[in-house]
Amino acid sequence: MRALFFGPPGSGKGTQAARLSARRTLPHVSSGDLLRAAARSGSAIGLRAKGFMDRGELVPDALVLELLFDRLAAADCGAGFLLDGFPRTEAQAGALEGRLGRGERAALDRALRFLLADEAVLERMSGRRSCKGCGTPFHVSFRPPKVEGRCDRCGGELLRRPDDAPEVVRERLAVHRRDEAGLVEFYRRRSVLREVEASGSVEEVAGRVELLLEGA
Ligand code: AP5
Repeated sequence: MRALFFGPPGSGKGTQAARLSARRTLPHVSSGDLLRAAARSGSAIGLRAKGFMDRGELVPDALVLELLFDRLAAADCGAGFLLDGFPRTEAQAGALEGRLGRGERAALDRALRFLLADEAVLERMSGRRSCKGCGTPFHVSFRPPKVEGRCDRCGGELLRRPDDAPEVVRERLAVHRRDEAGLVEFYRRRSVLREVEASGSVEEVAGRVELLLEGA
């Protein structure tokens, strides 16, 4: 399966992608995680990207595409993948299609759009704590870790992401609302667009996601 998740920041894309990736043994390829890892490594791309991320702006395509396409070239992506947070614009969607090709089978099986109101986004983002090591997201009320301040998966320290500050979240939401229509139209035209209501518990949303990916 080749699928992608897009939607507002904090709508639960990463949570659902991680869950599905474990269930279907599919690589979870998150552009945000790739960019944060590059920034932590101190690489030239990472250092350039960090300023954009801290302000809530999109990182320029030249940097994102290089990281993303390198990752998709890895052997484990050969049989399929789950993209999370990429593409974010019509231009990125076109670049991805150019990379994957558009032959007999569509380049992608599904593009799943997460729908969540801004108030719910702000509530989820204000309580999010992310693992410094593996990036797994938790929430102080909705998904608390078993041991306070520690990741259930790898034991890493849980921190608030710098771009989860309220003023940065507002900018990220505005960027998303500006670009989403182009992406929706792009995938609607290719008949792979599906929309998932992202409110409700993690399990409720997971059930809807599974249904929408059936047959993919
Ligand atoms: P990125 O890391 O991709 O951030 P995002 O898309 O804004 O999404 P988030 O990771 O913030 O949220 P999510 O939807 O994954 O929600 P989560 O599952 O964590 O990008 C960060 C930055 O990198 C961008 O701003 C940009 O600068 C740059 N970037 C990335 N990709 C790029 C690209 N393609 N082009 C250019 N720049 C790019 O859940 C959120 C919280 O809610 C958590 O606390 C979670 O526990 C909780 N939660 C999840 N589901 C539920 C539920 N059902 N009920 C209650 N709580 C829930």
